Formats: sequence, structure tokens, C-alpha cells
Amino acid sequence: MIGRRMGLWSKYRKSAVSRIDVHNHYLPGMDDGCRSYSDALPCIKAFMEKGYNRFFLTPHTGPTDMCDIRPEATLAAMDEFRRQMLSVGITAEFRPGGELRLSPEMARWRDTTGVPTFGMNTRYVLADLWEPDWPAWADQCVDWLQVNGFTVILAHPERMMVMRENPDFIQTLANRGVLFQGNLGPLGGSEPEPQRLLAERFLQEGRYFMLGSDCHRFAHAGARLQGLERAKILVGEKILDQLTVENPGKLWV
Ligand SMILES: [Fe+2]
Repeated sequence: MIGRRMGLWSKYRKSAVSRIDVHNHYLPGMDDGCRSYSDALPCIKAFMEKGYNRFFLTPHTGPTDMCDIRPEATLAAMDEFRRQMLSVGITAEFRPGGELRLSPEMARWRDTTGVPTFGMNTRYVLADLWEPDWPAWADQCVDWLQVNGFTVILAHPERMMVMRENPDFIQTLANRGVLFQGNLGPLGGSEPEPQRLLAERFLQEGRYFMLGSDCHRFAHAGARLQGLERAKILVGEKILDQLTVENPGKLWV
């Protein structure tokens, strides 16, 4: 249980901006992100100070390693998360999601119950790939998701080695209808120079459908919020709003 400080954050309810964070790891104890509600709280406050008032909670999901969380586990954790945040006066809204790790097993799934979607009520899926290359089975995963009616949004392409070696590969995926979610961290200097430069390039080329924090813990928040400022400098407020308000709003239904 976290302490009660009712009303402290209610002023953000009327913030002029209404940004949505589409990618984070705040659900406690689910993955490699926050371990407690107390860990999640300062992260959420930091983003609320910058105009965020809606958050999709997107734990790692999928069939391998720490990613064996299924969508029903995320759904089951939502009520308690909302209750804990409300108990300290957090007026932000929270919806379930997941970051689906693509894997060779996936294309053999018999049904789609293991697929988390934004809000669990849309057909948009946040997917990530941990491999250094783009294996043939990743294509099969995208095919399988698309055949089942999902729109694939690939998380943080700027972090993928295959993109760093061949930035034009992003167009190959775009041609297949894949959308892209950029991370704020590299824009704020959280990662080595090649990732920062690639994130800036993708941002300025208009490759991203949306930007997310991918925040796992409070130590991450500073660089990600610097990334938000950097994005504003690079592409201006209108595009930034498109990537953090308008397009994410299409998933918040
Ligand atoms: Fe993530």
C-alpha cells in the first residue's frame, strides 16, 4: 500500500495537453519493470508533470523467458493498479496492453488469446523482436498477426541492430503495413550515439506512428522526458502532439 496524498496530482486533470504513454513497464512484479506500486508512482508523477494523463500499461508478453505473461494476467492486475493510484490521488487513466515478443512459436498458435492489444479492445498490437537480425520467422509472425486482423506496431526500431546496419529496412516493413513506435529514451540520450542518431533520423523522416517511454523505473524517467523536449525541438509541437496525443488516441477507444 502506498501512502495517501489525495488531491496532490489532481491539478493535472485539466492540463492543456493530454498525452498518452503507449509503452511502459509499471505494472508491479510482472516483468523487469517496476517491482512495487511505490516504484511506479514517481514515474507516473514525472510524466504527469509533462502533460501525460493516460497510460497504457504494457508488460512484456509472449511465450519465452520472462515474457510468459498472458493478457488475462494483465487484465486481472488492472483494477488493483487503478485502486492503488487513486488512493494517492493520481487522476490519470490506465488501460491494459502488452509488449508482445515475436517468437518462432507464435506463428503456430492456434488462437489469438495470447495476443495483447492496446486497451484489449482494439486490433493494434505492440510487438518487439530481440534478435539482432530479422529472421524469416519474424515475417511469419507479422503475417500471422495480420491474417488474424491485427495491425502490428513494432516497438523501438531504432534499438534494433538490423535497422542500425540498414536503416532503409524500415521501409520494407512499412510496405507490409507495419507501424512503428519510437522510444523517447534514445532521443534523450539514454542509449549510445548510433541509437540516438537513428531515432532522430526516423523521427525526422516521419517513420514513427507514435512515441512511447518504455520506462521501467524512475531512473529511466529523466532521459525519456528529455527525449520529449528533444523531439519538440526536432519536429515541432504539432508533430509531437500527433505522436503522443492524436495517434495514440486512435488506440484509446
Ligand atoms: Fe518495453
